[in-house]
Formats: sequence, structure tokens, C-alpha cells
Amino acid sequence: MNFRPFISNTQISERISGIADSITSEYAGRNPLFVCVLNGAAPFAVDLFRACEDIDAELTFIRLKSYEGTGSTGVVKEVMGLGENLEGRDIILVEDIIDTGNTMVKLLADLEAKKPASIRIATLLFKPDALQHPELKPDYVGFEIPKKFIIGYGLDIDGLARNLNDIYILDEEQS
Ligand code: IMP
Ligand code: MG
Repeated sequence: MNFRPFISNTQISERISGIADSITSEYAGRNPLFVCVLNGAAPFAVDLFRACEDIDAELTFIRLKSYEGTGSTGVVKEVMGLGENLEGRDIILVEDIIDTGNTMVKLLADLEAKKPASIRIATLLFKPDALQHPELKPDYVGFEIPKKFIIGYGLDIDGLARNLNDIYILDEEQS
């Protein structure tokens, strides 16, 4: 398989600063809880959280799994749950990518049952043409991208490539 450079780490950092500015002004005085969806969202969630240093905020993690190889299995498994009490909290759910939206829809339903004050979604990447849930509208989006497989900056192919600092896209012409 061949991948070509798609989004540089510099571009990612610039978008994160922009999203952090919005969060910083919208959540001033509210102590939001960032919920990072492991494993893929780890680099984005940590960088975004650190870029929000001017507000009080907390960070926690949940672990889900739905992908095998380059395709969604359609079944979303919760591998590690949340310990925190979410009641009355302002939640910012942080995802690496929204593809079909299945993961996010399941997670939203699970979290809403815990009675938070609010839930917003921050996703680094969004594939609008792959979305199977038209009602799902992420609040903060880094980049809208085509329905192609990508890797890097947290996104993996069977566990590998998460440590690449830039994002790469599958080059179907040469694969
Ligand atoms: P969804 O449930 O189809 O929206 O898929 C969400 C999850 O699938 C993401 O959190 C990623 O972990 C994974 N995923 C979706 N698209 C890609 C991709 O292009 N590359 C790597 N992982 C992906
Ligand atoms: Mg993920």
C-alpha cells in the first residue's frame, strides 16, 4: 500500500490553536471535562487540552475499538470505561476521526445516560461523505476530508503509524 503526505503537523497545530481559542472563550469559568477516545485521539486530545491552558479543564480517557485493517467492522466495542461521575459536567468528547459516525452515536448515547450538563464533539478529521447518521453534527472540526483511508497523528493501520507526526492518505492509484 502506498500513502502520500496529506496534512502536515504544522497545519494540524494551526487548526488546534484555532479550536482551542474557540473552546477557551466558550468554556471560560466552566471547567469542562475532555473525554479522549483512545487509542486514535490521544495525540489530538493531549495537544488540544494543552492548547487550552487558559481555562480550568480536566482530561480523561475512554477506549473503543471498531476498525480492523482499513475498514470499519460496524461493531463498536467498549474496551475501557470511564471512572468519573459525569452528572452536571460539561463534556467535550475528543475523537480523531468521524467516519461512519457509528462510534460517536454509540458513545453519545452512553454518555447522555450519565446526565452531563452538556456534550460537545471535537474531532480532528471528519469524512462527511461516509457519515451514516445525518443528525450527527460535530461542534469542532479540524479538517473535512474525502472518504479515503488515512494514517498518522494517532490514526493507525492495524496498530502501526500512530506515531507519525504528519497525516498521510492512501494513494489508490499506486496501491
Ligand atoms: P466510525 O465509527 O466509522 O465513525 O469510525 C470511527 C473510528 O474508526 C475512528 O475513531 C478511528 O479509530 C477509525 N477510523 C475511521 N476512519 C479511519 C481512517 O481513515 N484511518 C484510520 N482509522 C480510521
Ligand atoms: Mg478512534
